[in-house]
Amino acid sequence: MSEDAAVESRWRVPLSDITVDNELADAVLETLRSGWWSMGPRVAEFERAFAEFCGAPHALAVANGTAALHLALLAVGCGPEDEVVVPSLNFVAAANAIVHTGAEPVFCDIVGPDELNLDPEDVEAAVTPRTKALLALHYAGFPCAMDDLRAIADSHGLAIVEDAAHAPGASLEGHMCGTLGDVGCFSFFSNKNLPMGEGGMVVTDDDALAEKIRLFRSHGMTTLTWDRHRGHASSYDVVLRGFNYRLDELRAALGLVELGRLREGNRARGEIVERYRRALDGEAGISMPFVPREGVVSTHHLAVILLPEGKARHDVQTALAERGIQTSVHYPPIHMFSAYKEQPRRSLPVTESIAERVLTLPLFPHMSDAQVAAVIEGVLASV
Ligand SMILES: Cc1ncc(COP(=O)(O)O)c(C=O)c1O
Repeated sequence: MSEDAAVESRWRVPLSDITVDNELADAVLETLRSGWWSMGPRVAEFERAFAEFCGAPHALAVANGTAALHLALLAVGCGPEDEVVVPSLNFVAAANAIVHTGAEPVFCDIVGPDELNLDPEDVEAAVTPRTKALLALHYAGFPCAMDDLRAIADSHGLAIVEDAAHAPGASLEGHMCGTLGDVGCFSFFSNKNLPMGEGGMVVTDDDALAEKIRLFRSHGMTTLTWDRHRGHASSYDVVLRGFNYRLDELRAALGLVELGRLREGNRARGEIVERYRRALDGEAGISMPFVPREGVVSTHHLAVILLPEGKARHDVQTALAERGIQTSVHYPPIHMFSAYKEQPRRSLPVTESIAERVLTLPLFPHMSDAQVAAVIEGVLASV
């Protein structure tokens, strides 16, 4: 973090942290001085680099991960009268994006304490004749059971949208998350593995979906201001009723630098998570989901533990905060929020029991050994 942020932070160990250095500052300054700030050549370069990173033919940069989800759902045809199956143990952006297409979220359960991803059996049970798509989250960057989800989607003619907000660089049997479904959605919010303040990306191998997303992203217009500035176009038509979900050049400049750091950052996160696992899993009733598995590469976006049953999480968080250790909860289930309480209810027993026990510990690539040790000591003393 920068010195200013360090002075302001009350945390000895914050939940997440970013590195600020001259390479990032220079990239932004150079873009600033270029005089072109709205979507243009740097965004195009970031898209090319991200597409190559994922092994996807199309990558479309957008303003944030929520916009990515909204565009992906619209592109696969979600609208009024449709249902989209989604895990309730997820960030609320997923449900909000669904309802803003006019469709209804159908909340689904997760596998269990070892794997906080969608349970394919419950997905199958949630499908109705109105289901249009599955919105599958790779929780904490651990790929969900895509083979099973694909089989369900194919048998009912459903699209799969991946919420890969946690998963840039994750893979399943050598295939990158974001390319496992029909459309993959990424977030580059400041606490993500590829941080740029705000930003997102939509990835697909389908030419027609990519074209729809490109149009929806910029008002449904057939050309960009940048195209007209370069003399590549002089006018435009509007072929559908779209949005302004564009990414800007300054953030793309940050994104290009951060993309170059992503693999190493993911690796460093993985080492810290394994240190947590060795010290905490099975100790004092604590468990840690997502045991490493052959064929699965996680991005280790979050370090999540499950507290012993019956342990008051608030007390643990307070005790850790007193030691200067910041924690969080990923996530309060969406179906329990006021805005979603009226939604028709499915029974979600696994989500409801596990959501009371999840606790997210600090995790960022440049955490010091002393910070990791302080968290471990703090957790063991607080449960
Ligand atoms: C799982 C998940 N989905 C979607 C989003 C939305 O992304 P953004 O904050 O970039 O809109 C986030 C990030 O906050 C997220 O964690």
